[in-house]
Amino acid sequence: MCGIIGYIGGKPSERILLEGLKKLEYRGYDSAGIAVCSDQGLKVVKAKGRIAELENKLRSQDMPSATIGIGHTRWATHGKPSDLNSHPHTDTHMKISVVHNGIIENYMELRDELAAQGARFVSETDTEVVSHLIASLYEGDIVQAVQRATKRMRGAYALAVLSELEPDKLIAVRLHSPLIIGIGEGEHFIGSDIPAILEHTRDVYILDDGEMAVLTREEATLMTIEGNLITKQLFRVNWDLAVAEKAGYDHFMLKEIHDQPQAYRDTLSGRLFKGYPWVYLPELKLTPEQIKQFRNIHIVACGTAYHAGLVGKTAIERWARLPVEAEVASEYRYRSPLITPETLVIVVSQSGETADTLAALREAKRHGARVLAVTNVVGSTAAREADDVLFTWAGPEISVASTKAYSTQLLAFYAFAIHLARIRGTLPDEEIGPIVHALTKLPEQVESILQRKDEIKSYAEEIASREHLFFIGRGVDYAVVQEGSLKLKEISYIHSEAYAAGELKHGTLALIEEGTPVVALATQPDLYEKTVSNIREVMARGAGVLGIATEETAGLAGSVDRLLLIPSTHPMIAPALTVIPLQLLAYYASVARGYDVDKPRNLAKSVTVE
Ligand code: F6R
Repeated sequence: MCGIIGYIGGKPSERILLEGLKKLEYRGYDSAGIAVCSDQGLKVVKAKGRIAELENKLRSQDMPSATIGIGHTRWATHGKPSDLNSHPHTDTHMKISVVHNGIIENYMELRDELAAQGARFVSETDTEVVSHLIASLYEGDIVQAVQRATKRMRGAYALAVLSELEPDKLIAVRLHSPLIIGIGEGEHFIGSDIPAILEHTRDVYILDDGEMAVLTREEATLMTIEGNLITKQLFRVNWDLAVAEKAGYDHFMLKEIHDQPQAYRDTLSGRLFKGYPWVYLPELKLTPEQIKQFRNIHIVACGTAYHAGLVGKTAIERWARLPVEAEVASEYRYRSPLITPETLVIVVSQSGETADTLAALREAKRHGARVLAVTNVVGSTAAREADDVLFTWAGPEISVASTKAYSTQLLAFYAFAIHLARIRGTLPDEEIGPIVHALTKLPEQVESILQRKDEIKSYAEEIASREHLFFIGRGVDYAVVQEGSLKLKEISYIHSEAYAAGELKHGTLALIEEGTPVVALATQPDLYEKTVSNIREVMARGAGVLGIATEETAGLAGSVDRLLLIPSTHPMIAPALTVIPLQLLAYYASVARGYDVDKPRNLAKSVTVE
């Protein structure tokens, strides 16, 4: 999510850090900061906004000449974008500075403990506990202090640590968040990813989970966080900068599709735990009493976010037994919806800035409803104006076509639906347990689908020359094909329609002719036979059908031209898997047709006009 750079060598560090941060700005642009160490001690400068703001601030400062430092560009998670919440964070005595990418799940507990010992906290971030924690555990050896601190921290982190107490050392630690070490001549680098350091070196060590590096000007010592020395193979980067920014993928969209296993881990992190039949949503101010008073829910959003809302509606109705309406914001705001103080309005928006969605939020508040925002951007207007917020931790989404924002919105809805159901007593623990289990398995299941992307690629290349394509499905499969159809239209410009499978024969079946491509989702065991009948209807008119099924509905193989099997999961959770092949289909179709995948014609990433 955020970008990290670190430098130790013989050159002025300030410029190297700033230039590195500019290369990482696509990873976050809420704020930026650097810490450098010289004979005058530790100096930290940080600023809300883009790197240019930091650069302006640095110009007005009397900066010491230093040859060691760390830097950070932030995508806000805990705590709004502000100067104080920017990294690097320091301990009370300004001896230790830390930049961090990830989430420290137990930061509240650590914060209370450290505050009781006298630590003075100045920010709302989870990261600040790390600098105080290291300071509290320092007994003359910074490496050991960092190792002791990692034993107390739960969650995900990529950390770079610089201390005035041992000013000739940089420390890098990784757990569930990427971090690399760059090797130069008499100089070493830390980077959250390759673009940060590519200008200086192409030789890198890629740290694995549970590993750390201690860097001096002369040496890079690699070890486990327990302190056991390790050796690793040096990796020679032969990408250019443009490719490196996309982590080696040809487009941001493909990178973001591949980010989804990590985005799932981050969005679920700290919210559910294997083996426990509940979800933990401590960020909600909504009390159980308030939840029990809701009589209905409205889910309001635009485009892809609306499609996530359709799945959310089904999950909430099925599990929490509350009536839910899902509607596009541009209609909702003008149709005088029946909102009462007993209505919960959920607005869904990746950016948190979409004009129609914000108007719907305000309309709902005007009628006295309580508003929950599901958004990816901390500090966004939706996050600030809503009564409650559930953040999706997808990280910045650069490609105009939304992928990981949609899929993490699904996870937010699943978690919230379980939370409601538990409080309302509508779903017994024996049923919640398997759902939680299914959610925890998602990241590795997505990885396994991504490994088979060539199957989708060859299908996409086949249909790339077609004018029309149909998607069909029932239940939540119908919700997902609406997203698949939008994605295909948006970036490949192939006309497509998403139909509730049972509805085709009421008119649209007339459009099916010899060779028309149809993508049919059939992941719902209780609707399976009905969907198979609908597939037969289109095949009888000559359609060529790609079926997508799970192991439970694998019998579909005998009824379609080709089949893609996705891993077995809880039927309600299937959308979090089935959307992956549909995203890949749109992506590869767009590539095959030679279009600008990341910037489709006529569209913008954030629609702040009506
Ligand atoms: C399509 C897409 C759009 C957005 C819509 C709402 O790929 O990204 O349909 O979902 O413009 O944007 P947010 O979620 O920022 O409110």
